[in-house]
Amino acid sequence: MAYNIAVIPGDGIGTEITDAVLPLLERGSEHHGFDFETTWYEWGSERYLQDGAMMPEDGLARLEHSDAIFLGAVGHPNIPDHVTLNGLLLPIRKGFDQYICKRPSILYDGIESPLRGYAAGDIDFVVYRENTEGEYANIGGREHRGFDHEIAVQSAVFTREGTQRVVQQAFEAATHRDGRLTSVTKSNAQAHSMVFWDDIVQEVSEEFPDVTVEELLVDRASMDFIRRPETFDVVVASNLFGDVLTDIAATVTGSLGLAPSGNINPSGAYPSMFEPVHGSAPDIAGQGIANPLAAVLTGAMLFEHLGENEAAAALSTAVESQLADESAPRTPDLGGSATTAAVTADLEDRL
Ligand code: NAD
Ligand code: IPM
Ligand code: MN
Repeated sequence: MAYNIAVIPGDGIGTEITDAVLPLLERGSEHHGFDFETTWYEWGSERYLQDGAMMPEDGLARLEHSDAIFLGAVGHPNIPDHVTLNGLLLPIRKGFDQYICKRPSILYDGIESPLRGYAAGDIDFVVYRENTEGEYANIGGREHRGFDHEIAVQSAVFTREGTQRVVQQAFEAATHRDGRLTSVTKSNAQAHSMVFWDDIVQEVSEEFPDVTVEELLVDRASMDFIRRPETFDVVVASNLFGDVLTDIAATVTGSLGLAPSGNINPSGAYPSMFEPVHGSAPDIAGQGIANPLAAVLTGAMLFEHLGENEAAAALSTAVESQLADESAPRTPDLGGSATTAAVTADLEDRL
């Protein structure tokens, strides 16, 4: 089997972790007998500074026939984030209808949670984040710039289909896990969109009588992600709430540098895109110390998506064995002093 993978390193540590990790994925594909052909797209902020666009006008058309996309991260300290992100990352998620953003959180052996009293395996849940609409619909405007009566409007959009499909997928996932689903909203304040979301959760729950449903307000959920992360199994949330919760989830399981993510179009009509949860990290970019493990675990999600489960498991196992080994190199986010290159070289040996 030969796969065509589009690779978009992006900006900052996005390029560092992509350069470090793609050779590991290529090696993995050789070991497991499939071809992994990559096409690299040097799209991002450097391109924007030269040509005024993050990607070419026909960017999506160029990616459309890939079997999957691997993306590093996007964001540049000298360009407004709304320009870079709306110029590259977000149009791919929306354009390819990648309506599930799947973000697993696992506390691995050898990793100390900042929370007291948690051992390996105690925390193991997955967030299904709505990924194409909601608060990220970007409908609105800004009028009367600079005047006292200036106004900015940013509308959120929740459609029946858009909400139903992510909720449905989250319930489905719960049936393959521990059968528990937590839906996170803010329906005490947002009486339209979030009450609508709650209604849909109730409707869909009737198709899944074996799944236990818990409904939490997002402020309370943020607290409980820290107070009792061990109780979560599948969490479903809107685009913005899912974004915020998954940085918390990454942190309670050790580091943002360990958190993988997949933007998935379940129908396969368009390619899915895999990227770590973290961003371009300008505070450490250029130092060669970014943790590449989020990107490696992201690669495992990509392999799994292609149906290459053995290759996916080999990557995850190598990461687990490295983390469990006290003498193995670790980047500073995990309390060590190793470089990105040292961590990937060690992983290569384990593979
Ligand atoms: P960030 O995720 O880039 O960094 C947050 C903190 O975590 C920083 O201290 C950073 O050094 C650390 N960190 C992140 N990844 C790490 C890794 N692999 N290893 C070690 N430490 C790591 O978030 P931010 O600082 O809010 O955003 C920086 C830029 O990235 C902004 O332009 C933002 O818009 C963008 N961003 C992009 C994505 C994406 O492309 N998917 C995601 C988040 C943020
Ligand atoms: C993420 C990021 C993006 C998001 C930003 C960069 C637009 O924070 O992937 O978590 O909010 O989706
Ligand atoms: Mn985020």
